[in-house]
Amino acid sequence: MNAELLVVITLLCRTASSQLNWAVQRDDLSEYKLDSSVAGVRSDLECATLARPQHQAIKFDRERYTCRLYSCQLGTSGCRKCRNARNSTLPLLLVRQLDELGRTCWRTFQHRVDGSVDFYRNWTNYLTEFGQGEDRNYWMGLEAIHQLTRAGDRRVRWEMSDWNGTRYWWEDAHFAVQDASQGYRVSVGEPEVSRSNVATCSHTVGAYMNNAMFSTQDKDQDTWSSNCAVTYQGAWWYGSCHCFNPNGRYFTPPAAFYLSEPLWADGLTFSSPGIGYPLNHYYSMKTFECMVAASV
Ligand SMILES: *[C@@H]1O[C@H](CO)[C@@H](O)[C@H](O)[C@H]1NC(C)=O
Ligand SMILES: *[C@@H]1O[C@H](CO)[C@@H](O)[C@H](O)[C@H]1NC(C)=O
Ligand SMILES: *[C@@H]1O[C@H](CO)[C@@H](O)[C@H](O)[C@H]1NC(C)=O
Repeated sequence: MNAELLVVITLLCRTASSQLNWAVQRDDLSEYKLDSSVAGVRSDLECATLARPQHQAIKFDRERYTCRLYSCQLGTSGCRKCRNARNSTLPLLLVRQLDELGRTCWRTFQHRVDGSVDFYRNWTNYLTEFGQGEDRNYWMGLEAIHQLTRAGDRRVRWEMSDWNGTRYWWEDAHFAVQDASQGYRVSVGEPEVSRSNVATCSHTVGAYMNNAMFSTQDKDQDTWSSNCAVTYQGAWWYGSCHCFNPNGRYFTPPAAFYLSEPLWADGLTFSSPGIGYPLNHYYSMKTFECMVAASV
């Protein structure tokens, strides 16, 4: 542990002027892809000097004198999830610090992994945290999301996976949730193509998410004639009504493969314009995760 600490201090000092700041952190290697392996390397420090700007994590193998350099798997310039740092079963890596405040990891505010937690809940429930923690089924709570985003420079990242394990993601450059007096109204920037592997609806054109207040089964704040939360069995920043429904009903196969009328779009559906199945309102995803970060 002391040795690790020493490495961090050494690296931080040494690299203060060279943009390469690293910290020892637990993280999930499946978030990364291995770019290269360099043999004949003698130390963490030497390993760090081999990193290029695209490398977000490095792992020095002391036994084989090998330096492994990783970039992000999922198209971001920063792929660390804050929740991984608290998971003691994950390996210690040297990960890049993107700014001096350490604001470099994605904080999970919503997560679905299976059907063991009911998300069809009322307004009071959605104000505060519920679920099993950020690694499993989780809702951070509207008040906490407001506090987290009030600084105003937050990005949002959405990730999901289908039942074959294909992962999809996209990012929006801006995300902020106002306070209770504003009905927890959200403002969200447009999807960023360079940080996405799917096309998604525009949030600002049309009547989907941007500028919507939050709605639940017992508090209809959407812009539709009926209650979107009831029709689509969830709770969300519904406009009239949604492009994706992360808090919808959890379906498992085979039902998840073809949601039936009239209840299509009530699952964890995502509609990508012009792409179709499974990225439409008839297919319910296996996992969904929503995250915010600053300056990633
Ligand atoms: C820790 O990470 C592993 C691998 O991703 C995961 O399977 C496990 O559920 C995590 N444990 C906790 C306590 O979050
Ligand atoms: C909301 O749901 C909880 C149960 O989860 C219940 O105790 C509470 O009375 C409900 N609140 C309202 C306003 O219906
Ligand atoms: C997944 O695999 C099954 C069986 O190979 C296939 O029928 C299905 O269309 C695939 N796609 C998705 C998104 O589940």
